Amino acid sequence: MAREQHRRLAERELRPYRAEDEPAALALWARALPRWPVSAKAFRSKAIGAEQLVMVADGALAGYISVAQAQTRAQLTAILVDPACRRAGLGSELLAQARRNLGGGVKLWSAGSGAGPYFWPGVPEDAPDGWAFLRAHGFEPTGETADLVADITRFRPPEWVLGRTGGGVRFELAGKGDAAEVIALQERHFPGWKAFYEHQLMLPGTVLVARADGRIVGTCTVEGPAEHDFLWQALVRGAVGAFGCVGVDPAARLRGIGLAMVARACELLSARGAEVCYCAYTYLEDWYARLGFTRWRGYTMARARLR
Ligand SMILES: CC(C)(COP(=O)(O)OP(=O)(O)OC[C@H]1O[C@@H](n2cnc3c(N)ncnc32)[C@H](O)[C@@H]1OP(=O)(O)O)[C@@H](O)C(=O)NCCC(=O)NCCS
Repeated sequence: MAREQHRRLAERELRPYRAEDEPAALALWARALPRWPVSAKAFRSKAIGAEQLVMVADGALAGYISVAQAQTRAQLTAILVDPACRRAGLGSELLAQARRNLGGGVKLWSAGSGAGPYFWPGVPEDAPDGWAFLRAHGFEPTGETADLVADITRFRPPEWVLGRTGGGVRFELAGKGDAAEVIALQERHFPGWKAFYEHQLMLPGTVLVARADGRIVGTCTVEGPAEHDFLWQALVRGAVGAFGCVGVDPAARLRGIGLAMVARACELLSARGAEVCYCAYTYLEDWYARLGFTRWRGYTMARARLR
């Protein structure tokens, strides 16, 4: 019924994305999401393994959707419609076709991340049209996350952070001999990070461990500007480094180990030339605020059940 109210576009064709669509797709992105400038390289890197469709309306590329799938889970990586063609049902058609292409085995689909390479953890909070659209299509909010940043030029861990853990805890880069123990910790407590650490352990100097009484009780990743391919460099001034996947064994928590590990990561990144430290996709804004991190951009986490 809503369809009748939609504006008419003379001709529209919904078809699979082709490599030669890239310039028009990037131009569409710039019009649809001016606050999120993306490079061609980044755009391509997030499309690996994804199903991409485009909508051509009156001869011009007016819509784009990218969806990833992992087992019974799907991820709506991005959906864009040209501002000049909104509220004409193009977004709905793209979404409906992508959904049909997923097949019957998919039970859940999440907005942003969850089943493959992604641009945002959820729906960017500065994309109100996107949220209104997803809401209208059955997506429910499940929480909020944020990306944080801190200036880490000449960063030194505050005394109170290091002092709390006492002398018994050491923070050092994982060596070759640590790989099995790093993976075992993920398997036990952070299974979602296992594959990520397996990849990271092959890149020397990018895994930091907290060792207490000879045992690894915490890990995080550390990537300086030379290692970290920062997606939104056009939006941040200065060289960017990042840490991620910060996890402490539950038996070793509440002893200051996590915060001290993050402080040590910031110190390392600063020494590698990072001026800004990026902390992506976190629910723990207040915790990181203790080291000077502030909110950069926020996201609404959302998902829809598929029958
Ligand atoms: C989200 C987006 C793709 C929607 O495209 P669209 O072609 O305008 O969507 P449709 O015409 O199919 O909208 C279908 C329904 O969604 C809802 N909706 C869409 N945009 C809305 C808005 N701005 N306000 C309120 N409801 C909206 C309405 O219920 C609409 O039906 P109606 O027009 O009959 O009321 C487009 O707004 C866009 O490109 N936004 C910027 C990119 C973005 O934020 N993407 C999401 C993150 S990836």
